[in-house]
Amino acid sequence: MSNYHIKHLEEYYQVYRKSVREPENFWEEVAEEHFMWHKKWDNVLSWDFTKPEIKWFEGAQLNVTENCLDRHLPTRGNKTAILFEPNDPKEAAEHITYKQLHERVNKFANVLKNQGVEKGDRVCIYLPMIPELAVAVLACARIGAIHSVVFAGFSSTALSTRINDCDCKMVITSDGSYRGAKTIDLKGIVDEALESCPNVKTVLVAKRILSNISIKEGRDQWLQPLLDEASTTCEAEVMNAEDPLFILYTSGSTGKPKGMVHTTAGYMVYSAYTFKNIFQYRENDIYWCTADIGWITGHSYIVYGPLANGATTVMFEGVPSYPDFGRFWEIVEKHKINQFYTAPTAIRALAKQGLELVEKYDLSSLKVLGSVGEPINEEAWHWYNDNIGKKQSPIVDTWWQTETGGIMISPIPFVTPTKPTYATLPFIGIQPALMDENGNELKGNQVSGRLCVKFPWPSIARTIWGDHQRYKDTYFSAFENKYFTGDGALRDEVGYYRITGRVDDVIIVSGHNLGTAPIEDAINEHPAVAESAIVGFPHDIKGNALYGFVILKDVGETRDQNNLRKEINQIITEHIGPIAKLDKIQFTVGLPKTRSGKIMRRILRKIAHNDISNLGDTSTLLNPEVVQSIIDGANSESTN
Ligand code: WT7
Repeated sequence: MSNYHIKHLEEYYQVYRKSVREPENFWEEVAEEHFMWHKKWDNVLSWDFTKPEIKWFEGAQLNVTENCLDRHLPTRGNKTAILFEPNDPKEAAEHITYKQLHERVNKFANVLKNQGVEKGDRVCIYLPMIPELAVAVLACARIGAIHSVVFAGFSSTALSTRINDCDCKMVITSDGSYRGAKTIDLKGIVDEALESCPNVKTVLVAKRILSNISIKEGRDQWLQPLLDEASTTCEAEVMNAEDPLFILYTSGSTGKPKGMVHTTAGYMVYSAYTFKNIFQYRENDIYWCTADIGWITGHSYIVYGPLANGATTVMFEGVPSYPDFGRFWEIVEKHKINQFYTAPTAIRALAKQGLELVEKYDLSSLKVLGSVGEPINEEAWHWYNDNIGKKQSPIVDTWWQTETGGIMISPIPFVTPTKPTYATLPFIGIQPALMDENGNELKGNQVSGRLCVKFPWPSIARTIWGDHQRYKDTYFSAFENKYFTGDGALRDEVGYYRITGRVDDVIIVSGHNLGTAPIEDAINEHPAVAESAIVGFPHDIKGNALYGFVILKDVGETRDQNNLRKEINQIITEHIGPIAKLDKIQFTVGLPKTRSGKIMRRILRKIAHNDISNLGDTSTLLNPEVVQSIIDGANSESTN
């Protein structure tokens, strides 16, 4: 069957139509022909968006790691599975073959078992981008433990919130991490977090930076000696199709982070199928996604999708600017990268540097370029296309979300003609809908509205850990019988989609999804702060940056405002992480509020965008007079 690998536009349309007309037959064929099952399903799909309840391949039994590792051993045992490129270019890259990865995963899985981890237990992984991170993820999957990877840039408070939310009994971390010329004391952050996580019984510590760390007797253990003693065989736990595979947190517009739950069979099938087609991966290609495994992009398109296809996937420990801004291109040349997948914020930062940093390197191995995380602006698209792809490598602008598990709208390279800033066509099996504010679907082309999906796809998150009601309220209540993405989009005259950005209070900064509420909560912790509101404003590298309007408790506060600004950003760093720091902080006497007390962010957004000509109707505000004083304050505001 050619359905697994689409090579022409007519084929795309044909397969797409089939996936919409007979979704069950379609996905059944994909699942049947390309994966390894202990038992096949009784039912391909059952769903009800009103509950909401979605089940794919019910009755099937499998283990994802057998699909990612064991089944490749006879044909690809000596092929590189993971190619590890360290932070320091002088340190040798590591080529881990499928056979070696299989052994390392089995050993790690046995360590987890020996430490008392059982099927269904939650394990928190807080590691830098070193091979142990991928191995730990797969080791959890091997024994049916549910991994919850927390991005190692998050602070101790953010870490403890995530550990407690899903009640992890173990944390896997390292003695520290390298980040360019800096080192970060990850173990110290874990120690601090665990002061408020009484249920964590075990901490496994990988050695990376050889720093002196404190070891808490009875809780902390070095990983390596345990691995050395563990057996290289570990039979894979037989999982049910709908058993949770992992939890991954994403921010919402309100409240604590949402633990999105992804399940086993559907996630595997969809991440693998999208990987194969959207990167047009061929057997000897070297594929590199620059994301961190702490985000969904890394889960689906560094670990599961590539390995399920027997691909060679690069893991890069460092940052694009170290030792200089040529590092990405140096790596492309060094490892002869064929598919390169990164974020618009990185592209914009690199485009600011001189072209000599690009021209020094041979980029002729590149075949496909990817973009993910936020809308890619026209300028960045052309820079990427002209200077990196030399107009030969199609750009796949892939739109998707933590919740969707896999890419939803994207060109298929060499199949779908690309168009700058457009994510183009829905991927196979995806049925988007644009809705107006009254809940009507906008049919036809040249319309714009709120982006929804009408029909389930295999890797949709099944719930929010511990809060199914919130799952329903957030995604299935805005529009009847539809999954609501939180994004706005338009459909052009040929049916191509362009994502226009969030329509809720989530702000995407450097491709990171940041909810306003947790940041405001952090700011309000400052003893001098009475209230605050955050909005986004355009930033030429980060896409959006954060603008905070802050009311101080004491109107006559005499402390130096720049010190206060620093302290506020310090608190944000402690509560969430440096990625959530504010670029601008304006102290104000009030915030525009509706009569019911809700902050009118629309007005603050306009002020932050310096677009005050049309503020709309402010007469319904509780305190319309405050608007002018904020505008005056903004004019005298300096960038932080
Ligand atoms: C939000 C999801 C999916 C992996 C990384 C982000 C925005 C993502 C695109 C794109 C325009 C995009 C959306 C989406 N987004 N990709 N190609 N074009 N916007 O995952 O943290 O869950 O964020 O990122 O606003 O809703 P996430």
